Amino acid sequence: MANRNPDTQARHFAAEALAADDPTSWFERLYASAAGDEAVVPWDRGAPHRLLVEWAQQRGLDGHGKWAMVVVCGLGENADYMAALGFETVAFDVAATAIRSARQRFPDSRVDYLHHRPSGPATGLARGVRPGGRDLHGPGASRTVSPGREP
Ligand SMILES: C[S@@+](CC[C@H](N)C(=O)[O-])C[C@H]1O[C@@H](n2cnc3c(N)ncnc32)[C@H](O)[C@@H]1O
Repeated sequence: MANRNPDTQARHFAAEALAADDPTSWFERLYASAAGDEAVVPWDRGAPHRLLVEWAQQRGLDGHGKWAMVVVCGLGENADYMAALGFETVAFDVAATAIRSARQRFPDSRVDYLHHRPSGPATGLARGVRPGGRDLHGPGASRTVSPGREP
């Protein structure tokens, strides 16, 4: 296990990726290093994000008969939580190792984990959301998304 501060190491990877004009490549490098026990993923909580859990619990969210798309799913904790609530869940991330790790972490998962490398930043995704769907991206955010429009 690396003894460097996880945030420092992640920043180092990010800085090198930015310098190489490949701004998202550091995620794969970080996840691969963590899989080799040479780094720690700073946002690996081993649990779904507490704001997502609070939001779901406050509403008594029941996903049966509904779809969820988890954008930039990382190690899959949020996606698997959505699936556990009953949502048919698709989740993707730019980092292939994150997707592999999520599948290993949740071997019996009903989530469809996809490695997806978009041509640009993670915007434009709202176009894939059905009319009346909700965008939960960002702290505490919950906005209804209209088809074809950014939240
Ligand atoms: C800070 S992590 C958060 C991961 C997860 N949402 C969580 O809360 O644990 C950001 C994630 O976004 C992914 N990511 C960043 N840019 C992306 C892009 N353009 N397309 C897809 N995934 C991307 C990274 O690989 C990383 O897993």
